[in-house]
Amino acid sequence: MRLLNASGCLDALTAPEVARELDAFVTKTVTPLPREGNAPTRIAEVEGGMLNAIGLANPGRERFIADTLPRLAELGVPFWVSVGGFCAEDYAATCERLNVDEVAAIELNLSCPNVDEVPENVGDVVAAARAASTKPLYAKLSPAADVAETARAAEAAGADGLSLVNTVKGLALDERTLQPVLARAIGGLSGPALKPIALAAVYACFRATDLPIVGMGGVSSGRDVLELLAAGAADVAIGTALFADPGAPARIRAELGAELAAFGFATADNAVGAAHGAGDATLDPESRLRLEKHLHTGLNMAG
Ligand SMILES: Cc1cc2nc3c(=O)[nH]c(=O)nc-3n(C[C@H](O)[C@H](O)[C@H](O)COP(=O)(O)O)c2cc1C
Repeated sequence: MRLLNASGCLDALTAPEVARELDAFVTKTVTPLPREGNAPTRIAEVEGGMLNAIGLANPGRERFIADTLPRLAELGVPFWVSVGGFCAEDYAATCERLNVDEVAAIELNLSCPNVDEVPENVGDVVAAARAASTKPLYAKLSPAADVAETARAAEAAGADGLSLVNTVKGLALDERTLQPVLARAIGGLSGPALKPIALAAVYACFRATDLPIVGMGGVSSGRDVLELLAAGAADVAIGTALFADPGAPARIRAELGAELAAFGFATADNAVGAAHGAGDATLDPESRLRLEKHLHTGLNMAG
């Protein structure tokens, strides 16, 4: 199991000591052209988490490649680039430019709730990126639609893994005026409130595909990591928790060690898929075969 940050929740160049606590760093989503993002207010605290409507503010592909990428390469932490766009060609063009040794993997952001331009069909985007890229490709999906079906489309189009989940839409109203707090009104909900949604998405996709999953959504403790592993995540990312606690990666690792020991798991990889009881009578034969394969792979990885 690797511990990562969730895209947009850590700037490795301003907090390199936090990035070095991770097994891999994931960048903020990079789009072909620079974006200033949405007008403020872009962040609001809500029950069980936060809302953000940043709108993919980033320096754009060319400045990222010229300025940010060489500095990330000096960190000594493998890094993944989160790639965004508004049509399949956008994604493919950026992926092609990222076929360089320094980039460990690419996460295709197919699910930002804070931009008006919605990407095309997930299968088309993944297929275009696949044709352009030599890197492992992770498809980052929204839990809002039928995530298992979307995951199958991403797998069929050549994705190597899934990142689950992005935020879901939420609204916060001002206490006194009853007007939306965010300038765009609706933003993406992240933090503890997202955890059951993330668990459900990971659980469903573990059964629906053969792809390794990076689980995320409301992780703030070792117990949260253990639950995502049990639901079927092979790796886990920390997002919102990093804003309040930059020491979260080291703390969560220590807590996870204690949780694994309490449950008798020799390694984190042994816990992957533990929530999928082998005696589940609701499983169809195809899902059962896949499940057995997953669990077998997990055991092999651990051994
Ligand atoms: C302020 C903020 C910015 C984010 N920016 C991105 C982004 O650029 N690309 C992306 O794929 N996800 C982005 N996300 C979503 C996170 O990567 C993650 O999927 C989500 O927050 C759920 O994890 P969490 O509950 O641990 O925060 C952002 C989330 C927050 C809170």
